[in-house]
Amino acid sequence: MEIFNNEFLQGLINEEFADYYIYKYEAEHFYNKILNGKEISNVFLEFSKDEIRHIERINKIFKTEIHPVKRIIPKIKNLRETLKMHIVREGKAIKIYKAIKELLLVYDNLDVDILDEIISEEEKHYNLVKKYLLLIK
Ligand SMILES: [Fe+2]
Ligand SMILES: [Fe+2]
Repeated sequence: MEIFNNEFLQGLINEEFADYYIYKYEAEHFYNKILNGKEISNVFLEFSKDEIRHIERINKIFKTEIHPVKRIIPKIKNLRETLKMHIVREGKAIKIYKAIKELLLVYDNLDVDILDEIISEEEKHYNLVKKYLLLIK
């Protein structure tokens, strides 16, 4: 039974790619520009790698080979705004993956363990980004 069609999965993968792209861009952008830039830069670089792996995992769970469609992403102004945006995006990601997990548990026999890995990474992103936001306030 296919409860998530390819259009939905494509959207999910596009958002993962956007997260990858934004974190990677910020890792370069903030490296020399702010205090503790190097640390934040390294963390964002790790996050960007996590986001790329989420695409691989989604394809693994649903046995698809969907590639992300890139879109134009507005450039970042400052770290505070960036962190706020990430909190919103990561929060949404956690909600979406938890909802997907619930549905898969009810309707399908797909590998929810992989989803747990994604959820725990998104929670890690969410918590660390939140911590950074509190630190710069
Ligand atoms: Fe992700
Ligand atoms: Fe994330």
